[in-house]
This record gives sequence, structure tokens and C-alpha cells, in this order.
Amino acid sequence: MAHHFSDRVQFKSRLTFILAATGSAVGLGNIWKFPYMTGENGGGAFVFVYLVCVIMMGIPIMMAETMLGKRGQKNPISTMATLANQARANPAWKYLGWMGVLAGVIILSYYSVIAGKTIHYIGRILTGLLWDLDLAGAEAAIDGLNGSIFLLTLWHTLFIGLTMYIVMQGVNEGIEKAVEFLMPGLFLVLMVLVLYAAMSDGFQQGIDFMFTVDFGSLSADSVLMALGQAFFTLSLGMGAIMIYGSYLPPGVSIAKTSAIVALCDTLVAILAGIAIFPIVFANGLEPAAGPDLIFKTLPLAFSGMFAGTLFGLMFFVLLVFAALSSSISLIEPAISYVVEKWGLTRKTACIGAGIITWTLGMGTVFSTNIWIDKKFFGTTFFGFLDYLSANIMLPVGGILIAVFAGWIMRQSDTAESLQISEDGYLYRSWKFLVCYVAPIAVSLVLLGGLF
Ligand code: TRP
Repeated sequence: MAHHFSDRVQFKSRLTFILAATGSAVGLGNIWKFPYMTGENGGGAFVFVYLVCVIMMGIPIMMAETMLGKRGQKNPISTMATLANQARANPAWKYLGWMGVLAGVIILSYYSVIAGKTIHYIGRILTGLLWDLDLAGAEAAIDGLNGSIFLLTLWHTLFIGLTMYIVMQGVNEGIEKAVEFLMPGLFLVLMVLVLYAAMSDGFQQGIDFMFTVDFGSLSADSVLMALGQAFFTLSLGMGAIMIYGSYLPPGVSIAKTSAIVALCDTLVAILAGIAIFPIVFANGLEPAAGPDLIFKTLPLAFSGMFAGTLFGLMFFVLLVFAALSSSISLIEPAISYVVEKWGLTRKTACIGAGIITWTLGMGTVFSTNIWIDKKFFGTTFFGFLDYLSANIMLPVGGILIAVFAGWIMRQSDTAESLQISEDGYLYRSWKFLVCYVAPIAVSLVLLGGLF
């Protein structure tokens, strides 16, 4: 496990790194969030902007973030402190790490509640939810769950517990094993769903909705949503990829791994959209149905297909695992900070972090029942946490990561860590994207969306 310049644990190989980073990237963001955001923001134009953001900002920032982690060899806060020191830059750069830790806690708090709902669906499918299900039945199921503080809390508690249990085992034992068989499985069941969707009445309408680009329907806020979604789905801007970069074995091409991870992640999101929108239209549902969209459509799809109970069960089980391999990366930066800096044991750190995120998550539990009409900055508590973290904190974190890698670090250091030659085409494109394109575009979108 140890290697020549640090005795920090490491991933076994390049493949494990790719699996772990893909495991972090692919999750509820692809299957739950991407479809409902696309639905709420008018379809094709949103998808287009999202794809542009992934390519022009997502991949270069992922390379930058991985590289910072690899050079820093520590948790995001200490990594930023060390690298700022090495570059003789302002020590305040460490607050970038702090913002990431905070964003991770906020995201995990609501992520866990949604993941909890997917756990609940496993139970519902086992007890016959999918037999002769109609739209009214599917809506009643999710409305019932949203109204039940007891059930939401139960599954939220279980999910936080599972996340902390895995993180407690450490990188090699917990994280690697959790991701090795998951992604291919999820991908396969997703293909079954896509095939089913392709045979449904709504297929053409669903495809048109997702891929017909009409910028007239796109507001400045939708552009910010697309940008936020690009960061969210790639796990960028808060140190998750940085911490995985710190476990990267030497000699791995960061450009290649980043491109692979982004490609897999995008593929899963697009396939999820292709699977879901035909069902939406075939059943006369509203694309803008919001966060409950997949809980209304997927059970209907499974209920209508051959061996639906089996596939439905597999799908929700795999989705819970995909959510777990993402949630562990949301909390790993915080855990490794308190372990490395405050000397707590991993166990104590996990218990503490579990209590904090669980408590914050209760606000999201209440968002669909007793607090449903309570407004936090004009939206529900869940909506507020989501907007603050995904649409503000992650893009701000992303800009700062890009600026640090592009402007603060020595060029020779970044080229060395990325293992690409300084005067090659690849390096120069990356440098241009992190120095100019990402900071300027992200700032404009942020300002445009916020004001
Ligand atoms: N990317 C994950 C998803 O799409 C969620 C996630 C995991 C995340 N780690 C992150 C989001 C770090 C932002 C930052 O489900």
C-alpha cells in the first residue's frame, strides 16, 4: 500500500481509481436529479448547456482537482494549505478546502433522505407495489412516503449509518470493494429500461423533449442550474475528487482518467433521461413534476414490463449502492481532515459526522410534510440546501480550483503532475480552459443566475 514518497493509503491501481471516481460521480445525480432538472428546465436546451459545461469546464476542472489532490497528498483543507505554501500564495486558500467540507456535509444531508426513499422502494417492490400499478397508484405511493416522517427518518437513518459504516473501514477496504461490481450492473439494468422506453408510445416525444434545442425556453437561472448540475454530477468543486486524487497511485494519466469518468457519468445520465421521458409522456405526466419524477415514472415502467418486479428490484438495489458509492465521497474529505488534523480515530470521526449530517437531513425529511409550506429564501428547506450547495458552493469551489491550478501553481509543477508535456497541444488547451474559460464562464453564469 505504501509507496516511495508517502505512507498514505493508495488505490491499488488506475482501474480502482477510475471505479472509485466513477462510483462517486454516478449516483442519484444522474438518475434522480438529471431527469427532473431537465424536465423543470424545458428539455433540450438545458441538456445542451449541461453537456457544454461538462466538456468545457467539467473535464478540465476534474483534471485540476485530481492533480491538486495528488500533489497535496492530504485532505482538501491541508492540501490547499500545503500547496498555497509551496506556491508562496495566500494561506487563506485553505478556506477553499473548508467550503468543500461544508458543501459535502450539506449535500450528504439531503442526498441521504433521497437515497432513503430508494431503499423504501425496495421494500415496496418486494411487497407487490408493481403488480397492476397505475399512475394514481404510483403517485399515491410517493405521496404517502413523502408524508411519513417516520418512514423517511427510518430510511435516512439507515442510509447515513451505512455510509458511515463504509467510510469507517477506510479507503481500501470500504470504498474499493463497494464499487467494483456496481457500475456494470447498474448500466445493464438501465439498458433494459431504455429498451422498454424505446417500445413505449412516448418514445419519440421523450427523445424530442430531450434533444430538441430551443434556447427561447432557457432562462439565466436554467443556465445556472445546468452548470450546477455539471458540477454536482461529476462530484466537482468540493474536494471529493481531490481526496480521491490524493489516493491516486503514481504514473496514472489524469487527463485520461478524467475523460473516462466524465464520459461514463454523462452516458448514465443521458440513458436515464432516455428511459424516463418516454414514460412521462406515455402516461400524460408533467415533465416538470420535480424531485418526485423518477418515483412516479420508474415504478410504472417496471410494472408494465416483462419480469418487471425482478428488474425493478435490481434497479433500486443498484441505485442504493450507486448512491452509497457517491455518499462516501461526500463525507470522506471531512473525515480525512479530522483524522489527519485533529488526530481523531476514523470511527469517532464517522460517528460525529453521522450525527451532524443526520440532524441537518431532518430538515429535508420535513420538507415534504410539516415544513412543506415553510419558505427558506423562497423555497423549501431541501430546495434551499440544494440551491446553495449545487448552484453556488460547487461552482465557486470550481472557479477557485481552476484559478489555483491555472494561475497560482507553477506551470512546470502542474505539467509534471498531469504528466503531459508543457508545450504540447493537450497541456495548452487545458491551461487555457482553467485559466480563462472556466473562471470567466462560471462567474458569468453565477452572476447571471443569481441576480
Ligand atoms: N456526483 C454524485 C451524484 O451525481 C453526488 C456526489 C458525490 C457529489 N460526491 C460529490 C456531488 C461531490 C458534488 C460534490 O449523485
